[in-house]
Amino acid sequence: MNILLVGSGGREHALALAVSRSLNIKKFYVAPGNPGIFQFAEYADISISDHNSIVNFCKQKHIDLVVIGPEQPLEAGLSDTLRENGIVVFGPSKNAARLETSKGFAKEFMQLNGIPTATFKRFKSYEQDQALEYVNHHSLPLVIKADGLAAGKGVVVAETNIQAHNAVVEIFGGAFGKAGEEVVIEDFLKGEEVSVFAICDGTNFITLAPAQDHKRALDGDKGKNTGGMGAYAPALIVTDSVLEKIKKQIIIPTLAGMRKIGAPFIGCLFVGLMIDNGEPSVVEFNCRFGDPETQAVISITEGDFAELFLSAALGSIKPNTITNIQNGYACNVVMASGGYPDNYKIGYQIIGITEAENSGATVFHAGTKIENNTLLSNGGRVLGVCGKGKTLSEAIDIAYNAVKLIKFTDEYHRTDIGHKSK
Ligand code: AMP
Ligand code: GLY
Repeated sequence: MNILLVGSGGREHALALAVSRSLNIKKFYVAPGNPGIFQFAEYADISISDHNSIVNFCKQKHIDLVVIGPEQPLEAGLSDTLRENGIVVFGPSKNAARLETSKGFAKEFMQLNGIPTATFKRFKSYEQDQALEYVNHHSLPLVIKADGLAAGKGVVVAETNIQAHNAVVEIFGGAFGKAGEEVVIEDFLKGEEVSVFAICDGTNFITLAPAQDHKRALDGDKGKNTGGMGAYAPALIVTDSVLEKIKKQIIIPTLAGMRKIGAPFIGCLFVGLMIDNGEPSVVEFNCRFGDPETQAVISITEGDFAELFLSAALGSIKPNTITNIQNGYACNVVMASGGYPDNYKIGYQIIGITEAENSGATVFHAGTKIENNTLLSNGGRVLGVCGKGKTLSEAIDIAYNAVKLIKFTDEYHRTDIGHKSK
């Protein structure tokens, strides 16, 4: 089959690696891609915001399957346009992507379908006074969220009423543009956070190994929220019985509920969970794979991802395409640009990737580019360095030994990815 992958981050590098292992691939293209992905896939010279060019490209190149990595093209309706043109897509419709693109929609959907999640209230920007009244009198901590997509930055866990008040004013004041025209205010959930990815065909699904992200910028879960500074899998807090609850109480009713409203979910349903005393609650849904969890999850999964995605996209998932979801442990450490998630500089030379890979790790490119035959940093999250082992400790050691071999100016990384669970 011929495949087009859309995206350019570490997650897409991992998806490209996974898909490229399929024996059934004739041509594999990527737009816009990155130097890591170009090891497997050919650059497709199309803009991902120009949906008609993507359709034309798919027709010209006889693309059998489009795999969409990030949420923005899903929100923009790329899957819908492709499907209207008879092209097979792994990725939800704009309507189904609302599970991620509107937190208010997702919360109401969960309430309606009896899916466990924190108690919440929605406020429109013209209801700022009511929102402030609500936060001023509510017990703490309290979680304030911009409704729309905000690259992981639109959430404040407020420990004081003043912080909560300021967060509401900031969001309604335009800090997140259109994404902040509504806020969701929800109760704080305690417990341990995990990410579970369900590959869905609209009705049926399979889950991959649960993973744990490390969202804060600094060791010990200190500092600002980021897109994720590292992840490991499997996260053993998700025991078989917890996974059964996640399927029964969350994934099955979500797929049924989405079908009921005419928005069947085809793609990767990312369930962000808090597990408290073995009881799962949904913190968030995303409509795509997680980054940097995917790099760890895919490293321990065996099977034919191209066939898996194709079968799900065609509405009839073939679970047997995946032969093992848990072959050992993986730990993926993000190497970031100093200053991320705020301002940072790019364009620094990266050295040592070959040595790192020779030492046994897999290096995923996230924000890199090649100029004059030199590999340069080109984003906040630059690389993911992933170790794999029979134990989590072994995976962590392989990852961190490889991290030591890679250098670029201003580089920083957390030194404690996976440590809590060793
Ligand atoms: P979200 O974008 O909704 O996943 O929120 C970003 C992060 O904020 C999550 O990964 C959690 O660490 C934290 N968070 C969000 N909602 C809650 C909640 N209700 N209780 C506790 N922590 C939360
Ligand atoms: N790692 C969290 C996310 O992809 O949203």
